[in-house]
This record gives sequence, C-alpha cells and structure tokens, in this order.
Amino acid sequence: MKTIIVDRYGDTDVMNLQEVPTPQAGSNQVRIAIKAAGINYADIMQRLGSYPGGPEPPYAAGFEYAGVIDEIGEGVTDRKIGERVMGLCKLGGYSEYTVVPASQPLPIPEGLGFEEAAAIPCQYFTAYHVLITLGQLQADQTVLIQAAAGGLGSLLVQIAHHLGANVIGTASTSEKCEMIRELGCDHPINYKDVKFREEVDRITEGKGCELIVETVGGRVFDLSMRCLRPHGRLIVVGVASNDPRPVYGSYLLPHNLTISGFHLNGFLGNVQAMKDAIQCLHVWLEKGVLKFLVNHTFPLEEAAEAQRQIADRKTTGKVVLKVGD
Ligand SMILES: NC(=O)c1ccc[n+]([C@@H]2O[C@H](COP(=O)([O-])OP(=O)(O)OC[C@H]3O[C@@H](n4cnc5c(N)ncnc54)[C@H](OP(=O)(O)O)[C@@H]3O)[C@@H](O)[C@H]2O)c1
Repeated sequence: MKTIIVDRYGDTDVMNLQEVPTPQAGSNQVRIAIKAAGINYADIMQRLGSYPGGPEPPYAAGFEYAGVIDEIGEGVTDRKIGERVMGLCKLGGYSEYTVVPASQPLPIPEGLGFEEAAAIPCQYFTAYHVLITLGQLQADQTVLIQAAAGGLGSLLVQIAHHLGANVIGTASTSEKCEMIRELGCDHPINYKDVKFREEVDRITEGKGCELIVETVGGRVFDLSMRCLRPHGRLIVVGVASNDPRPVYGSYLLPHNLTISGFHLNGFLGNVQAMKDAIQCLHVWLEKGVLKFLVNHTFPLEEAAEAQRQIADRKTTGKVVLKVGD
C-alpha cells in the first residue's frame, strides 16, 4: 500500500510517498480502507520535532482517518465489513490502510461524506470538550477564539455561537474574518491589522472575556492573558507559533484567573463526556447547526503541499487528503 513516511525531522521535503506491506487485522482489530485522511496542525509539529512526546522518525505520518472496514480480525463479533467509520490511529493516517482496535472506529453520521467525516475525530471532539466539558461555556458569556478560521477554530466558533455566547474571533486576513462572521462570530478581528487586545477591551467595555481558547502562543498568548476578566479562564490548546510562553502566578493570583491545558487524548477515556459529544454531533448535524468546512483537499501524493499550505496560514477550515479512487 501507499503511505507517507517522515524520514527525519525537518521541512516538508522529509515527507515521502512509499510502498509498504499492507497491514492485516490481528485479533480484536479491524482494518480500515482509508478514503480520507485528516491533516492536523499536530502533524506539522510532529514533523518539525516540536510536538511534546511526538514520534521518532522514520514514522508514518497522520493520525485521523475516515473510510470503510475491509477486514475483521479474530475475535471481533460486533463489526461488519463495509461499515463507514472514522477515528484516530496512532500513526499512519496518511495511508491507504490502517489497523486499529475493533472498539475504536465510530460510525460516520448519516449524510456525511468521507471528507467531512475526516474533520470530526480530532477537531470536532476537541472543540466540544474545550468549550463544554472543560470550558463550561454558558450563554451570554464572552469567549475569545484565537485562529478562529482554522479547522479547529471554525468549529469552536459554530459551537460557541450555538451555545449563545458572545463570540470574538481572530484571524489574519479580512477574507478569513468574513468567513467566521458567516459562521456566527459576533466580532471578527483581523489581528494583523488591529491590536486585538484593544478591540476586546472596546467590545467588552473594559470587562474582558470569561473564556479564551488559545492556540497560537507567543505574543498572542501574552496579550490573551490580558483579555481575561476577573475569574476568567484561559485554555491552552495549541502553540502554532512554536513559541510557548511562561505564566506568572503573580498575575493570576490578584485576578483569580485560571489557566488550563487541554489535550484531546486525556478526554477520549471520559465515557460520559464522549457520549454527550457524539449525541450533540448527531443533533447539531440534523438541525443544521454545525457544518464541516472542508475547504482544501489534496491527493495522498500531495501531503507535503497540504501541510505547507496550513503552515503558511493559507488554509481555512479542514484540510483533507483524498485516498484511493
Ligand atoms: N490540544 C489538542 O488536543 C488539540 C487538538 C486539535 C488542535 N489543536 C491545536 O489547535 C490549533 C489549530 O489546529 P488546526 O489543526 O485546526 O490548524 P488550523 O487552525 O487550521 O491552522 C493553524 C492556524 O493557526 C494560525 N496561526 C497563528 N500563528 C501561526 C503561525 N505562526 N504559524 C502558522 N499558523 C499560525 C493561522 O491562522 P491565522 O492566519 O488566521 O492566524 C493558521 O491558519 C493548533 O495549535 C493545534 O495544535 C490542539
């Protein structure tokens, strides 16, 4: 089968399409014929060697897939060949096939294609848990979402808007700002053109935000801290700038601020929260509350170009590799 191997840490030229043996489903496993592979910012950080606990090269890139079960291992009684499924795998999502524990793949919601489904396992569940399970966002609270036009950001905006929050979102171009406005962002801010901290001050009449979802790091992180109102909560979900910043307890203390980290892996085992997230997914899709914006698709062979475009901040919504015919 074809797969994308990262030979060593580095720029996109370390990613190569290779022919490797097709894996077989072992006991209690199923094999998925992948139709669409999700690209996530974490893939870029893993390739650069800046992802905490990331894989050592050489490794098979990618960890998110949508496809069809095409082989069932010994001892598996509750899965069927031909089931349309989506999920996360440890490595090798940018491949024609992957093998995962039989209990893991989730059914693709009716009416969704493979490409839209590939936007769900990482970014939808992260958006849900960040805003609801951990963030406890309530109607009428103000939430600031950084990099709001991205794959994760575009879902955060839609969910926060649906919850009835006052949504402030940042993005680096006016086109991206227009896109998030259409998704329900009340106050899009082009943070290349204006100082977002001052804009947040103006929008909230000096009060600041109850919740901030921070995915950029660097100066954006430092200024985000200053956008919190007393008792506010900032959740660190990513560091796209690769510039992590320190947090000073002496600033948190007088304002009763909370800073939390979020990593999806730590929430996948929370059975009740995952059930709630899946139930909301179905209801929101049925009601048309949630759209998966797959704005960029590439063939598997062009995985390096797909990553380059995300890193160069040229993409909006989800970026997906189409695999097979
Ligand atoms: N903790 C978790 O479990 C988890 C799960 C999913 C995602 N994440 C994190 O969430 C963030 C978004 O992930 P995603 O996959 O949805 O990617 P994405 O948002 O589609 O792409 C990254 C975006 O970050 C913004 N950005 C700001 N500074 C940047 C810089 N120096 N270099 C590149 N981009 C920069 C860009 O938007 P603008 O040009 O508009 O600024 C860019 O489009 C990432 O930090 C990712 O690691 C974390």
